[in-house]
Amino acid sequence: MKHFLSIEDVKDYKALIASALAYKSNPFVDKTLGQNKTMGMIFLNPSMRTRISTQRAARNLGMEVIVFNLDKEGWQLEFEDGAVMNGTKAEHVKEAAAVMGQYFDILGIRTFPGLINKEEDYSEHYINQFVKYAGIPVVSLESATLHPLQSLADAVTIQELRTTIKPKVVLTWAPHIKALPQAVPNSFAQWMSHWDEVEFVITHPEGYELDKKFTGSSKIEYDQEKALQGADFIYVKNWSSYKEYGQILNTLPTWMVTKEKLDVTNDAKVMHCLPVRRNLVIADDVLDSSNSVVTQQAGNRVWAAQAVLSEILKYS
Ligand code: CP
Repeated sequence: MKHFLSIEDVKDYKALIASALAYKSNPFVDKTLGQNKTMGMIFLNPSMRTRISTQRAARNLGMEVIVFNLDKEGWQLEFEDGAVMNGTKAEHVKEAAAVMGQYFDILGIRTFPGLINKEEDYSEHYINQFVKYAGIPVVSLESATLHPLQSLADAVTIQELRTTIKPKVVLTWAPHIKALPQAVPNSFAQWMSHWDEVEFVITHPEGYELDKKFTGSSKIEYDQEKALQGADFIYVKNWSSYKEYGQILNTLPTWMVTKEKLDVTNDAKVMHCLPVRRNLVIADDVLDSSNSVVTQQAGNRVWAAQAVLSEILKYS
């Protein structure tokens, strides 16, 4: 694997899930694989889980890690080709990324979307320029449209908790007060639609359809209760509209996932990428119950990242 920007970079996703679970059983088996190598983790946006779990993963493989909060500590970056840099942006990505390529062996980067210009966000304008100019493997720590490290950890969690041959996995939209990116649901839909061992359904109010590029032929059900019937896993997430780009079309409190809604499921495991707003997105009676697997899911971020980094170290 050269880069890890989406599932498209993965040759064998089932083997990658198995590798993550093997690292979970034996975290230090490859503790010298990354010896004398350094990973740079560049953040243009906040993070807790991605920041900590990826560092843990890199260190389990013997790597050094340098974390740099570019948004707060770096020069403001210019991304436009041919820009006359007479404003507030002091450094062009062409130099910044190239310099990082000199310091690091692997570059992880988080760049959220602006949610204003759909074409710009969906072209992955920012992360692609780091790929172009850094000259080293780049790992997405969440980009404008995708969060593949999260999705791999999600798949790992489903794999270890599944009790049926083909579990029903439902991605449900839930309300939120802020306009959030589509990266997590896009990515989850992309991974689930590749996985032939799950029955995947997406449910959301009309107007919240995701980009078909990521959902493929996944089933869409606009009635949440119908969608949840017989579910083995419920993945809860808010996202802003893709059609009316970046807009909150409604905040429908009836879409919050409550304990009562689990009655029609197969005692479903409830997942969320975190952070989650309690009693807005998911009710306390779910998050505090044994149905919630959000902590285990977040824990699996370490093993997912370790599987990805080891593939890059071995094969890039
Ligand atoms: N789920 C996730 O990516 O969490 P952070 O934003 O805290 O990294």
